[in-house]
Amino acid sequence: MTDASSRAGALLAGLTSADPIGTWSAPGRVNLIGEHTDYNDGFVLPFAIDPRTVVVAAPRADGRLRVASTFAETPVETDLAGLANLFPGAGVPEWAAYPLGVAWAAVAASGVDPSRLNGLDLAISSDVPVGAGLSSSAAIEGAAAAALDEIWGLGLDRVALARVGRTAENDAVGAPTGIMDQMATMLGRRDAAIFLDCRSLRTEVVDLGFDAAGLELVVIDTGVKHAHSTGGYRDRRDACERGAAALGVPALRDVSVDDLPRVADLLDEVTFRRVRHIVTENQRVLDTVRTLRAEGPTAIGDLLLASHASMRDDFEISVPELDAAVEAAMRAGAIGARMTGGGFGGAAIALTPRDRVQDVTDAARAAFSDAGFRAPTVFSVTPSDGAHRDD
Ligand code: GLA
Repeated sequence: MTDASSRAGALLAGLTSADPIGTWSAPGRVNLIGEHTDYNDGFVLPFAIDPRTVVVAAPRADGRLRVASTFAETPVETDLAGLANLFPGAGVPEWAAYPLGVAWAAVAASGVDPSRLNGLDLAISSDVPVGAGLSSSAAIEGAAAAALDEIWGLGLDRVALARVGRTAENDAVGAPTGIMDQMATMLGRRDAAIFLDCRSLRTEVVDLGFDAAGLELVVIDTGVKHAHSTGGYRDRRDACERGAAALGVPALRDVSVDDLPRVADLLDEVTFRRVRHIVTENQRVLDTVRTLRAEGPTAIGDLLLASHASMRDDFEISVPELDAAVEAAMRAGAIGARMTGGGFGGAAIALTPRDRVQDVTDAARAAFSDAGFRAPTVFSVTPSDGAHRDD
């Protein structure tokens, strides 16, 4: 039993004497490459990681849905009959808007009458670090979506459940994110990444083979917190939409690297750099998939580095801590490194030969100490399975 599932089990036992129905879990994710491309109808290559969020469920006889989390002091509950009107709206604490938003969106997507559904208690606990850019929010959404779909017999497939998670995030929580994280948490596969076309939502499984190549994926969590419901994330999204509108295309996915010289004359300098990041990043995802298949993971280092440079210089979503983490990892023998996730904080990843992991860890800590930054948290993750029932 993982830490999160024993904590969730204990939390549920404190709420109700009813026997649990079951336990479901869903993972956080690392995005290997393809940043801010998802809401531009582009390509991404994330993988699910080993830390997971767990939901344990028990029945209630009164037609109410109650959610409790080891991160919050007080549970939040709602009448299922009124679920359809719960969002959008104020009044639900942010942590509870994730699982209740999933219930709200899942019921809408399946078309069932919520007043006919059985009441539930859901206890949630997570081993996914929060605010590290590792999609702790998608992990909650994925675990709740898998649990509710099965318990209520909603009949939604994995892609539909990923859409439910994104709807919860966009319309219940209010974060204007794309669908990458929810697809990764629902569809993750052991030792593989998910190559996702965010326009068609078609996926291909791409073997990573880190272990066989003697590599580890090291996460350097800077501890710098970010929130995608406010600030820079929304601003970048707006810039991409402005760029696409100015170029007369439905989305930046429709602009190619060859178009860039022509496009430069049509946009102001800042918007052009935002557009250039998206266009080149889409190409880097395609190149990474091809390279992984043809040559394996030891050959993708330069693509990871080019992605980081593009986010730092063109998209301007890195922070000094992330740049320091990438530079320290490369000096200490990583074969490639980049920030991962939405940016403005969170974590960097470093693809590292096993015998250099300690050097990378030490180098990151030393660089942060020298620069006067808070000590980073450094750990390795393994590509893992997506949401499932545990018990
Ligand atoms: C966050 C969002 C994703 C995606 C990334 C950036 O993780 O939730 O939808 O936009 O940022 O690639």
